[in-house]
Amino acid sequence: MALTDKVALVTGAGRGIGKAISLALAGVGATVALAEIDAETLEATASEVGALGRPSLAVQADIGNLVDIDRMVQETVDAFGRIDILVNNAGVTRYIQFMDVREEDWDRIHRVNAKGAFFSMQRVAKDMIRQGEGGRIVNIASIAGKGYQGASNAAYAASKGAVISMTTNAAHQLGGHDINVNAICPGVTLTEGGRNTRAQRAEQQGGAVAAEQQTLSGPDIPIGRANDPEDVAAMAVFLSGPGSRNITGQTFNVDGGLVMQ
Ligand SMILES: NC(=O)c1ccc[n+]([C@@H]2O[C@H](COP(=O)([O-])OP(=O)(O)OC[C@H]3O[C@@H](n4cnc5c(N)ncnc54)[C@H](O)[C@@H]3O)[C@@H](O)[C@H]2O)c1
Repeated sequence: MALTDKVALVTGAGRGIGKAISLALAGVGATVALAEIDAETLEATASEVGALGRPSLAVQADIGNLVDIDRMVQETVDAFGRIDILVNNAGVTRYIQFMDVREEDWDRIHRVNAKGAFFSMQRVAKDMIRQGEGGRIVNIASIAGKGYQGASNAAYAASKGAVISMTTNAAHQLGGHDINVNAICPGVTLTEGGRNTRAQRAEQQGGAVAAEQQTLSGPDIPIGRANDPEDVAAMAVFLSGPGSRNITGQTFNVDGGLVMQ
């Protein structure tokens, strides 16, 4: 299998896109370390990965905390001897209209989505450079970071714009170590987090429910369907594998054509 002998670390692995990516990586042979703030969902994903017959490690960690970031990477390296792939997936949001975004909303969102992603990359790169055999980093951004105005908010959009721009800087600086850094911008994706945010928008905007149903099934989406988490996972597996060896600093939309840039 494509990723046998590779060790991957996935953040926010308890549910949604992170869980789908963890299972997909294990499905192509990777050994997967799962990092997640929620102990219950973490254990559930760990047992599903275990059922695929691949070694795995469950680390309860808060990605907004640098001590936890250091610990999750160190535990991965201690358990498996190395680290080859980081998928920066953990993210938080809430639907908030522009005039209602408070300082605490901004800080809560940026702490995980932007700061957490950056320092996870920096910490993992330290071990990848030490190993001297290259690596892959995949950052889960969002089409909200490219201007799509869905069930988002200004703080979330800015945090995902930050992920896109830190991807290019990291790709530039780490390229000499054969570490590829790319980002995925999912569109409307059928996860618990995505559903919660869209429900918050519908609640705050009254008549937005019908528009929401339209968005989920097209016609706004040219392909006519929202993402399953597995659609995003397929791109993450490609960017983690040998086929992407000459691709770095790029951002790929997985959104059924909702945003074409
Ligand atoms: N669902 C969508 O429509 C959509 C669209 C674009 C981008 N995204 C991005 O994809 C990623 C995954 O989204 P999802 O829809 O699966 O979300 P989700 O809320 O369903 O899952 C996110 C997971 O991350 C975990 N997490 C949150 N904060 C954490 C922290 N501080 N430390 C560790 N783990 C933490 C959560 O507990 C949860 O298990 C996020 O970065 C999100 O912004 C989602």
